[in-house]
Amino acid sequence: MGKYDEIFQRSIQDPAAFWGEAAGAIDWYKKWDKVLDDSKKPFYRWFTGGELNTCYNALDRHVEKGRADQVALIYDSPVTNTIQKYTYAELLDLVAHFAGGLKGLGVGKGDTVIIYMPMIPQAAIAMLACARLGAVHSVVFGGFAPHELAIRIDDARPKVIITASGAIEGPRIIEYKPMLDKAVELAKHKPAKCIIYQRRFVKSALFRDRDVDWEKLVEKSRPAECVPVQATDPLYILYTSGTTGIPKGIVRDNGGHAVALRWSLENIYDTKPGEVYWAASDVGWVVGHSYIVYGPLLTGCTTVLYEGKPVGTPNPGSFWRVISQHGVKTLFTAPTAFRAIKREDPLGEHVKKYDLSKFRYLFLAGERLDPDTYHWAHKLLDKPVIDHWWQTETGWPITANCVGIESFPIKPGSSTKPVPGFNVQILDTGGTSLGPKQEGLVAVKLPLPPGTLPTLWKADDRFIQSYMSMFDGYYFTADGGYRDEDGYLYIMGRVDDVINVAGHRLSTGEMEEIIATHPDVAECAVIGVGDSLKGQLPVGFAVLKSGVKKEAEEVRSELSKLIRNEIGPIACYKETAVVARLPKTRSGKILRGTMRKIADGEEFKVPSTIDDPAILSEIEEALKGIGYARKDKDYLVL
Ligand code: COA
Ligand code: AMP
Repeated sequence: MGKYDEIFQRSIQDPAAFWGEAAGAIDWYKKWDKVLDDSKKPFYRWFTGGELNTCYNALDRHVEKGRADQVALIYDSPVTNTIQKYTYAELLDLVAHFAGGLKGLGVGKGDTVIIYMPMIPQAAIAMLACARLGAVHSVVFGGFAPHELAIRIDDARPKVIITASGAIEGPRIIEYKPMLDKAVELAKHKPAKCIIYQRRFVKSALFRDRDVDWEKLVEKSRPAECVPVQATDPLYILYTSGTTGIPKGIVRDNGGHAVALRWSLENIYDTKPGEVYWAASDVGWVVGHSYIVYGPLLTGCTTVLYEGKPVGTPNPGSFWRVISQHGVKTLFTAPTAFRAIKREDPLGEHVKKYDLSKFRYLFLAGERLDPDTYHWAHKLLDKPVIDHWWQTETGWPITANCVGIESFPIKPGSSTKPVPGFNVQILDTGGTSLGPKQEGLVAVKLPLPPGTLPTLWKADDRFIQSYMSMFDGYYFTADGGYRDEDGYLYIMGRVDDVINVAGHRLSTGEMEEIIATHPDVAECAVIGVGDSLKGQLPVGFAVLKSGVKKEAEEVRSELSKLIRNEIGPIACYKETAVVARLPKTRSGKILRGTMRKIADGEEFKVPSTIDDPAILSEIEEALKGIGYARKDKDYLVL
């Protein structure tokens, strides 16, 4: 038996012994009573009775144990022309003072705090400061519009919201403060205070009674000590798209999270204390939580926080520049970032300018890694290019090539094998296990390992209904896929109304709900269509109310603006086909799968349940009118 097999078997056969041992890498104020509490299935809890503080584990203990002068965080911001390094001692000082400021505003254990910030160190400082106080943070990605922020404010009910005056996106300055103000106006819940970090290039006017300037708050504050919390207490809530307009508040606990992430850095990513790890993502996404902030810092690594894009800041050589300048060993990003680089520098001329000798691994996730991008990246870099699959819900990878344990040969299109702790099964709709090469629904046998979601924020019922009720005793991932005869997994895509646009998870169901509010729209559908850069893009179909006489172009522009205003620019919603009717089954279900195939120019069978087959050619014509459903189009081949 190989090393991976031996470790994997141990993790499944005796999870309590396995994770109990891994928990030795974390410092506890009080040891747990039970590693795995399964008394309220399917609500499993890890390390019950244990007490710790996540910020202490990420900062203080490294300072106490000899890493005070090691760089903890490198802020690399090509958009503001800044590179700033913070040692562990410096970062701790900043976090403790900011935590003191929060405490002065009344934030304590169990309170919620929303963080709506661009990619600046203050975002990480704010997260760690909340963790220090035992407060629960909820980071909202900056590309979301006020309406989305308002939904999260009403669900998380924060005492304080932290934001910055703005960010730079391409040639534009985006002001965050007016978006915050609008969101607070829209929300029913009102935060007691808002803290604003003023950036050099854009200043916000503050409301005297509500707003507090970050720098002024910190100037007056005294450093706050770490507050011990229960292992099972929430560290954060991260909202993610579900199938409706109400996002799911994924809860992360303190104890299981710290144990799992600390374990993952060495065992999955082969990255050890003192080494440089870079997740080129955003703190607003789960990758940013786990692998810009918590994972590398819990491990005593140096993390890179990059405020830029793979291209255009200033050119497609930016990633190679950062890797070489900061001695990055492990880079984690989304395949779309590599497709963007490939598009602008297909021959990889920029790589030749940099010394990448310290660079060992490229990890990709967030969407399926298409084989073309895999081959391009592998040929260009001559390093292992590792596809790994995970979800906001799990917080860390479900399948990967765990190079810290044992390297497996890479099979393009596969994210390799289940990570220890994840008992992954392919099931048919009736819950029967399928054999090799049989495509089905991907589920994970319970219990899930530590660090995964214990529940949804104040929504236990929705947790059960979304994840636990499809198959008894399993977590349902909502992804489809199969396993080959060597046990490699192939994740083929979502089986629900969730799409992935440039590695960002979005709900077509939510887009439909918003389009349906347009006064001229009688009926609509939104699907995800393959895109050679962003993986998928949303495309809508609108049936107009009778009597409405509007040019298709006008409808497209109005719906695009509507989605941009309600969800935000990252929805990338641009195309709508105006049609006379939608294809449906005889029982009235919209045939979104068939529409997607037509849009992607794929072969499709006319479903036997269709109400009127003639409608499919109308859909094809409408899609051709907006540039889809064409055999010669450059779709992404998965
Ligand atoms: N705040 C405000 N607006 C934002 C934003 C933010 N934090 N992030 C993105 N946007 C805006 C963009 O400016 C763009 O607006 P536009 O329509 O006015 O041009 C829109 O949202 C779409 O953004 P994006 O999809 O990122 O497109 P892009 O053309 O700017 O960049 C890529 C394309 C591929 C380079 C970029 O999407 C990328 O780097 N993706 C990697 C994603 C990633 O790291 N995912 C995390 C999982 S690992
Ligand atoms: P998110 O919650 O934003 O991380 O998105 C999770 C979804 O992204 C998963 O359910 C998958 O559909 C998709 N995904 C993430 N990583 C991969 C991968 N490596 N291969 C295929 N799909 C992926």
